Amino acid sequence: MMDKSRHFLMIGDQHIADSITLSLEHYAWQFQCTSCLIEAERLLLSSPIPIGIILLDSSHIKSSLEPERLLSLVPSTLWIALLSVDTLQEHQTRTFIARHCHACLTLPLNPEEANHVLESTLIISEILATHFSTGQSPSAPNRQVAMIGKSHAIEKLLKNIEKIALVDAPVLITGESGTGKELAARLIHDYSTRRGGPFNAINCGALPAGLIQSELFGHEKGAFTGAEKCKTGIIESSSRGTLFLDEIGDLPMELQVNLLRFLEDHHIQRLGSLREVSVDVRVLAATHIDLEHAIESGNFREDLYHRINVLQARTPPLRERPEDIEALALYYFKKFRTETSCRVRGFNHESLVTMRQHHWPGNVRDLINRVRRAMVMCEERLITPDDLGLERRRNIVRARSSLEDVRNRAERDAVTAALARNSNHALHAAQDLGISRATLYRLIDKHCVPRPLDNRA
Ligand SMILES: Nc1ncnc2c1ncn2[C@@H]1O[C@H](COP(=O)(O)OP(=O)(O)OP(=O)(O)O)[C@@H](O)[C@H]1O
Ligand SMILES: [Mg+2]
Repeated sequence: MMDKSRHFLMIGDQHIADSITLSLEHYAWQFQCTSCLIEAERLLLSSPIPIGIILLDSSHIKSSLEPERLLSLVPSTLWIALLSVDTLQEHQTRTFIARHCHACLTLPLNPEEANHVLESTLIISEILATHFSTGQSPSAPNRQVAMIGKSHAIEKLLKNIEKIALVDAPVLITGESGTGKELAARLIHDYSTRRGGPFNAINCGALPAGLIQSELFGHEKGAFTGAEKCKTGIIESSSRGTLFLDEIGDLPMELQVNLLRFLEDHHIQRLGSLREVSVDVRVLAATHIDLEHAIESGNFREDLYHRINVLQARTPPLRERPEDIEALALYYFKKFRTETSCRVRGFNHESLVTMRQHHWPGNVRDLINRVRRAMVMCEERLITPDDLGLERRRNIVRARSSLEDVRNRAERDAVTAALARNSNHALHAAQDLGISRATLYRLIDKHCVPRPLDNRA
């Protein structure tokens, strides 16, 4: 029987993976190979991997993202450098190995030596794993969740993010609500050279028009009635980092021109000040509305659109990648299980089938909420479709008419806009929409809109 601990992660190309398979064929090792560092991170975070092997050749180090962060992500994963004898002489490579690697292997591989190095590394890794789990180590880095999914659409997105992270141009991230636009922005930041700097996010649709200017650009003391102190805007406080402008389609017209000016010369002027301040910040923007349509209807400036739309990333809706649903559900199930004591063991078969068939208008956010709720509601050992609040339908047509999408989006937009117009006051927003407060709350929950502060439980 295959020993489950005898596996490793390989970062390299297919060619090297084939040669390792051949060299280790008599030694019962299993491995996964990827050339994508974000994919590697996902694998490292989703299950314990005792050993990582990283192919170091000059071109790999120069052309790829800097892998340092990845190599220190999980303390019990030990890294072995794989390289040619020539590369081993390079100063840069030697520094890298000294900092991050437990051992190294030279090419061409000697099977016996490779097995020996892997075996001894495995022993040390197991010791470290028990050591770390007893809490004697510095805790693991505080990480955001990884981007889960093995579908073609997610792989394409991750490859795209890797490339985008290497340059400094603005990015427009598009995708339906709850598909991971903010997560994508976070990954771009984490994989860029700006990762040591701040990552700040601001939702352009959630703030009243009067406030957003000073939130973005800051203000001087006395700039307007009530401005008792000077305030640094979020652009300035993102200096040397990344600013994520969420729902940029909701930015009021008069501020679009200010933002455009900033993107053109990277200077800002605080409200009430004549002084121009130079700020080094990368801007990422996201929208779930069609900006081209907004331009046609006169709600979005075309010049600003071209400024922010230099690079693009699209987060695919969940219904376009049903093969990722189970992995996502299990990932969040495990995550919540470590947070709470829960006797639920997992999902029953029917719930997995039902989840695959569901249309997921609220995408990953909706899925996370349903899993969390199901873990509380479940009375058996396995979660059922009822616990998830999903209807059991065997022959559901997956690609339903887009009318439902349009209706859902319009409903969600109306709710978010009314809340923003009414400073997040539920009763006023409900009156504004001509509905009862109970109906507003039903819509808030249905569309996974954050609950307004005045009524948060
Ligand atoms: N591929 C994924 N793997 C793991 N978690 C994900 C993935 N995609 C989204 N999530 C999670 O789903 C939730 C919603 O994602 P996020 O906030 O990034 O979506 P969004 O597109 O910005 O939504 P909105 O348009 O409503 O602001 C977050 O908790 C995020 O971590
Ligand atoms: Mg978002």
